[in-house]
Amino acid sequence: QAALAGEMPARGLHVVITAGPTREPLDPVRYLSNHSSGKMGFALAAAAAELGARVSLISGPVNLPTPAGVERTDVETARQMHEASRRLATECDLFIGCAAVADYRAATAAEHKIKKREGEEGLTLKLVKNPDIIADIARLRDSAGGRPLVVGFAAETRELEAYARDKLERKRLDMIVANDVSTAGLGFGADDNAALLLWRDGEGEGGASLPPQPKSELARAVIERALGCLTSRPV
Ligand code: CTP
Ligand code: CA
Repeated sequence: QAALAGEMPARGLHVVITAGPTREPLDPVRYLSNHSSGKMGFALAAAAAELGARVSLISGPVNLPTPAGVERTDVETARQMHEASRRLATECDLFIGCAAVADYRAATAAEHKIKKREGEEGLTLKLVKNPDIIADIARLRDSAGGRPLVVGFAAETRELEAYARDKLERKRLDMIVANDVSTAGLGFGADDNAALLLWRDGEGEGGASLPPQPKSELARAVIERALGCLTSRPV
């Protein structure tokens, strides 16, 4: 019995995870997006479910099967992901923003297909900023009195630790998982990843460097570290 409880440390917890890219329409046949495969977010969902949590996965367009025991909500745009996150995060214990949210969308998506114009060599698109989903959830947490714990990701090509620390502070996160995406074979689209974890909890500030490993193993380490923060943070 005790051994079973030890293997299911997330039992009774509700975890909400965003994953994959978002897709921002330009017109009925075109969109703006990025190369996120969703693998890391789906691995996190699988790991949390294996550790006993109730898991809600909010996914952008990806080509992956839903992990066993996971409740999945599919979205396309950042604004749809934002809405689903707000709805689910108000009643969760742990929110993990793993999605590669498009920072900008077209100011207005054209109602009809944009036609190529004779005599014009270029096309200028007007983009506007999308909402910062995780920063918004972290603000919700502040006003709702201490829940959920909020974990973000940072994909960087340089100055990994400095940019990750800045995001941890600026977005008021409890923990950040920083990836150096300039390393070949790791990160975007790959099956393996390495990460620098930075966190704040009741015991102060911590950090850990996780070496290259399958995303499934990295996911488990991230969930276990987040559970540690949940247990030790001040109420
Ligand atoms: N994120 C989010 N909503 C956005 C943009 C990012 O929730 N509109 C989340 C991501 O899911 C991730 C974290 O914020 O957990 C960091 O994403 P990142 O793109 O690295 O941060 P940005 O603040 O967008 O900074 P930049 O792209 O300029 O590095
Ligand atoms: Ca971004």
